[in-house]
Parts: sequence; structure tokens; C-alpha cells
Amino acid sequence: MSFSKIGVVGCGLMGSGIAEVCAKAGRDVIVAESSSEALQAGAARIEKSLGRAVRAEKLTEDEMASTMANLTFVDSLGAMEDRDLVVEAVLEDEAVKVAIFEQLSDAVSVPGAVLASNTSSIPIMKLAMATANPQQVVGVHFFNPVPVMGLIELVSSLLTSDETVQRCRDFATGVLGKRVIDSQDRAGFVVNALLIPYLLSAIRMMESGFASAEDIDAGMVLGCNHPMGPLALTDLIGLDTTMAVAESLYEEFKEQLYAPPPLLSRMCDAGLLGRKSGRGFFVYNR
Ligand code: 3HC
Repeated sequence: MSFSKIGVVGCGLMGSGIAEVCAKAGRDVIVAESSSEALQAGAARIEKSLGRAVRAEKLTEDEMASTMANLTFVDSLGAMEDRDLVVEAVLEDEAVKVAIFEQLSDAVSVPGAVLASNTSSIPIMKLAMATANPQQVVGVHFFNPVPVMGLIELVSSLLTSDETVQRCRDFATGVLGKRVIDSQDRAGFVVNALLIPYLLSAIRMMESGFASAEDIDAGMVLGCNHPMGPLALTDLIGLDTTMAVAESLYEEFKEQLYAPPPLLSRMCDAGLLGRKSGRGFFVYNR
């Protein structure tokens, strides 16, 4: 039984992308944010992304209009009552996510409804235990930019039911057209456990004066054919998100390779968060 009524909690970089791909696939999507400013910014982000797809001739004007018509923006989780899948995509803060799962567990009344998290690194079990039905809680981890990236990581906790996982797998592949990989419930899952040490190494290399930001990135783009260098990628992901994921990994494994370098920490303190703030390792026109 595929999901038809989707909820997305959080309309930042990831939440807006998740809402966009679900609405583009013809699903009725409710997007919740905590303030009307955040909702407006999220809606504008979705419109901009769809406009880009239209300009690239990947979407028609009519399809863009019907995608926007599939989206409803709300400022309360109470509106999630009739949803059969809710994807949480708020900032990487365990306490905030746990509180949202508690509220969703009370708000969503559809029997068997799945509560999913797009967390990059927080153990799914911690979120599942905040709900009345931990067997219906799962990690569904998308990649940025969501409309472009072809992967979803599916993360089962020790208590997630096979039915919950299968429904998410069918939705991710059959409806969203993404390739699914499965991961155990360990901080960072598969991709971030590999990616974050690489990004942190690039930051340490720059911090130590070993090479410039431009040269580090050119090295990986031209030398290894990566679509973007590690510092530009950190800017795309967001330095705050990178920092939060690194902290979760370090907390879980206590391995030095996951320890956030001081430069990353100081840049976060300074609000130099990457593309979203206009400046990170590089400067962006917003
Ligand atoms: N909707 C649909 N298609 C879009 C689009 C949109 N909003 N935006 C771009 N596209 C399409 C373009 O049309 C183009 O398609 P084509 O190849 O068929 O012509 C393609 O996507 C690439 O777009 P552009 O040519 O405009 O841009 P670039 O070539 O500069 O690529 C990029 C931009 C896709 C971001 C590329 O640099 C890239 O893949 N970078 C790596 C991104 C990455 O690694 N993401 C993962 C981050 S980790 C993560 O998210 C996990 C988290 O937990 C931390």
C-alpha cells in the first residue's frame, strides 16, 4: 500500500527538496514549519528549484503548477493527523527531533502511519522511543540537492517492522525513482560515515596551511573527477549540518577522524555556514 498523503516537517534545504519530489510525484503534501517566515522561504525555495527544472526542460509549466498545487503549507503539526507518511527534516538536534516525534506520535491518527526521519546521523532508535509505535519509525535519508541526487538510505532501528521498511522501499523506488541502500542504525549510516572524514580532512588540510581552499577543491574536481571539491561540498551541505553530523559520529565512535576541526567550529560560531548564509569556504551571491 503506497503512501498517498505525505507530511514533511521542516522546509529548509532538505525538507523543501523532499516536499518538492513528493509533490512532483503527484502526492498530496503538507509541509509544516514553525514560523510563517520559514514557510515563505521554503515555498520560495521549492518554486525556484521547480523553475530551474522548467528552464532545463525537465518539467513543463503545467507540471510545475500542478506540483505547487499539491503542496499545502502549515505552521502546526496538528495538520498531520490524516497523513500516512510523515518525514521529519528539521535541524540536526536530537532534543528538537525527539520532541517532534513525540508530537507526531500524538498528532498522526492513521493506523500504520510511518514516521520517518531524514536525519543524517542521529540514531533512529532514539526517535522511535519517543513514539507510541516504534515499529513504524524509520530513517529515510535523502541527499542534497534532493531533486537531483538519486539515492535514499533506508535505516531500520532494532524495532522497525519489515512492513514499514518495505513500504518505504516501494515508495522510494517506485514513486520517487531513487536507488535505495540499506544501513544499520549507526550514527552517519553508510554515506556520512565515509563522507564526513573526507570533508573534515580537507578542512584540516586548509586549516594547517597545507594548501589553499581553491587548490584543495581543484585537486579533487580535476584530479578525481568529483562534481565538486570537498570545501564547496561542505558549503552546499551547510557547515552547521556538517558540524552536527561530525559531532554525532564522534559521540558514537569516539574516533579522532570524526572530531570536528576548530576552524569548522569557529566558522559555525561566526555564522559562516556556506551557501545558505552567503559565505563559507567560498563566497556566494544569494
Ligand atoms: N530540479 C531538477 N533538476 C535539476 C535541478 C532541480 N532543482 N537543479 C539541477 N538540476 C539538474 C540540471 O538540469 C542538470 O541536469 P543535466 O545533467 O541532465 O543537464 C544537473 O541537475 C546538474 O545541474 P547543473 O548543471 O545546474 O549544476 P552542476 O552541474 O553544477 O551540478 C550539483 C550541481 C548537482 C550540486 C553537482 O555539483 C553535484 O552533484 N555535487 C555533489 C552533490 C553531493 O555530493 N551531494 C550530497 C551531499 S551529502 C548529503 O546530502 C547528506 C547529508 O546528510 C549531509
